[in-house]
Amino acid sequence: MQELIGRAADILIGAEYAIALTGAGLSVESGIPSFRGPDGLWTRYGQPSNLSYRVFSQDPQAWWEQRLNDEAAPGNPTYDLKAAVDQALPNPGHVALADLESLDVLKSVITQNVDGLHGRAGSQAVLEIHGNRNHLRCIGCGSRRPRDGYLITDLPPPCIDCGGIIKLDTVMFGEPIPAPTLAACAQEVHRCDAMLLVGTSGAVNPAAQFPLVAREQGAKIIEVNPMPTELTAAAHVVISGGAGDILPAIVQAVRERINA
Ligand code: APR
Repeated sequence: MQELIGRAADILIGAEYAIALTGAGLSVESGIPSFRGPDGLWTRYGQPSNLSYRVFSQDPQAWWEQRLNDEAAPGNPTYDLKAAVDQALPNPGHVALADLESLDVLKSVITQNVDGLHGRAGSQAVLEIHGNRNHLRCIGCGSRRPRDGYLITDLPPPCIDCGGIIKLDTVMFGEPIPAPTLAACAQEVHRCDAMLLVGTSGAVNPAAQFPLVAREQGAKIIEVNPMPTELTAAAHVVISGGAGDILPAIVQAVRERINA
């Protein structure tokens, strides 16, 4: 294990532009369930339909009514995820990635997570490809605003900027990733020469393509995950373990090399 940690540290230090791609597994140690695997939300409740966004678009009022009900009543994935995220704190894995950014070893994080924990851990350059559950977004003008403090009276909430329809910032199944976010992610992927994959099964595109594109362009891929995934075959270094243990060990190895 120490040899693998050392190889990962060497890759990250040697890279011109190392980035991270994170998934739900990183937040498991913060008490937030993942989606797939034994205790996953989709394992328990089934994965939402790829028509979810179309259903929303056809009747946004009914969607909001159902959403607000689901948030208040146990026994559905919305309630479970909200309850977990509301009390979650960044874990040592999130803090380690923020440390790597402070050491100027990691240039950015692309996260599939909507829990906002990277920002709370201190990471500055974070691209939330699936949105942030603490924000609202207008599907008309794309403007985003914090949900806290936004009094939702009319359903669907009207955008105060353009009068359009406001939804949660979280990207739904079947919803296009907002173009500015996707463009920014693509730029980071094309620029990177090392990618640290943490806690993602590699099950959902376009994020799952990022490591493959990066490898195609010569980037070194490191995977941190207790289980093999769809992306393991593309990784040059595969470290089997939890992010909360492995990532701080990588930071320590990086620091030792920087201070040597
Ligand atoms: N440390 C690191 N990885 C872990 C840990 C841990 N402590 N615990 C679990 N994992 C791994 C699992 O082995 C699994 O490979 O995290 C991964 C979680 O996979 P998913 O539940 O599929 O989550 P993710 O890859 O983020 O899903 C992608 O699917 O439904 C959509 O929008 C949702 O963003 C999500 C996307």
